[in-house]
Amino acid sequence: MDGEAIVEQLMTVEGRRDPYPLYELARTLGPVIPGPPDLLLAVGYREVNQVLRNMGFAVADTATRERWEPGFADHSSRVLFSRSILESNAPHHARMRSLIASVFTPRRVAALEPAVTAAVHRLLDEMADRGADGSPVDFMDAFAFRLPVGVICELLGVPEADRYRFRGLASELTATLEIIATDEELAAADRAADELAGYFTELAAARTAHPRDDLVSALVEVAAADESRLSGPELLANLVLLLVAGFETTTNLLGNGLALLFRHPEALAGLRDGGVTPAGFTDEVLRHDSPVQLTSRIALTGGLRIGELEVPYGSGVFLLIGAANRDPDRYEHPDRFDPTRRDSQPLSFGAGPHYCLGAQLARQESQVAVRALVDRFPALAPAGEPVRRDRLVLRGYETLPVILR
Ligand code: HEM
Repeated sequence: MDGEAIVEQLMTVEGRRDPYPLYELARTLGPVIPGPPDLLLAVGYREVNQVLRNMGFAVADTATRERWEPGFADHSSRVLFSRSILESNAPHHARMRSLIASVFTPRRVAALEPAVTAAVHRLLDEMADRGADGSPVDFMDAFAFRLPVGVICELLGVPEADRYRFRGLASELTATLEIIATDEELAAADRAADELAGYFTELAAARTAHPRDDLVSALVEVAAADESRLSGPELLANLVLLLVAGFETTTNLLGNGLALLFRHPEALAGLRDGGVTPAGFTDEVLRHDSPVQLTSRIALTGGLRIGELEVPYGSGVFLLIGAANRDPDRYEHPDRFDPTRRDSQPLSFGAGPHYCLGAQLARQESQVAVRALVDRFPALAPAGEPVRRDRLVLRGYETLPVILR
């Protein structure tokens, strides 16, 4: 099988369910291999890391999409994302990112820890009530989805009453980030984008009039101070990005983590006796079953190379994060789930200029959740087979039924 056939297989239901054998197949062909026409696949840790850090490899931004994606401007979901930092390149990226990072600081995230802990315990209380009679509870619905939504809304300052309507909207909107989206999915994503943009327009106006101690207030304040650093549409796009970027990703980190915990009783024992730390556990879940499996770049400078391979101007590169995280040249026994690994540094949050802004927050949520789950429910056990979500880029579970006692 060549690189093109491997990409085709990755797009099938089977390939999405378990992409790891296909990654291994790709690896036998080299750390970077040709895929479909004008596309390369990077599977090696060093190569994926190198591309992410090289600004000659750009993200597909508005200008690129207008040129290469027919009908791009007709889709409000695509236009919205392309105004955000996720889909911008230098110099716009640095301009917006530095402003956002000036208010979304490590200190603000650290200060949120008591609120994260309180949210974790509240959700576990609710789970305990639901499962008190011994009936199964779906961990994804009862916990893994609700925690990140609650936490990011707390940080942004989204009122509690509005939070649960975001679930469907976020899921519909992020379908545009998948490689193949159907017409129906795109239409739903556009509707979700319009609704979310409308919601944040109102919230930003409310916070401009009456600022509070939250991220939306802080962002509208810095944006108002200098419109040339963050325009109105850019502010909206980045607020929506901050809302949805942590939804399914962190949800999947929590779900993938619990599923791995069930498959590895030795890790559970380690978490109980202190041999495994919640931080080590979280990093190994990120490495072993990354919630984001793939991202991409385009060679927008001539004369670029990845390793030995010359990359023609305009070529796309699929960066297979899930494969890079299991590169035997980087990790000993890469397929083994070992939460005692040191210096793991998986590429699950990316690297370089677009390194995930929410990495610290996602890690914090997972660490607090794992500790509390293990302490609180000593008899936590699976109740039947978990069901995977049928997605390639954002990898996680649809349902993960558990019994609490
Ligand atoms: C386990 C959870 C998460 C994972 C695996 C994850 C993964 C990623 C990855 C791989 C990227 C880089 C994409 C690229 O380079 O093409 C990224 C970017 C980003 N993430 Fe996350 N993320 C997570 C949680 C969060 C959370 C909780 C937030 C916000 C609160 C967030 C906000 C962002 C933003 C704003 C960017 C864009 C940064 C930029 O382009 O400069 N993420 N994330």
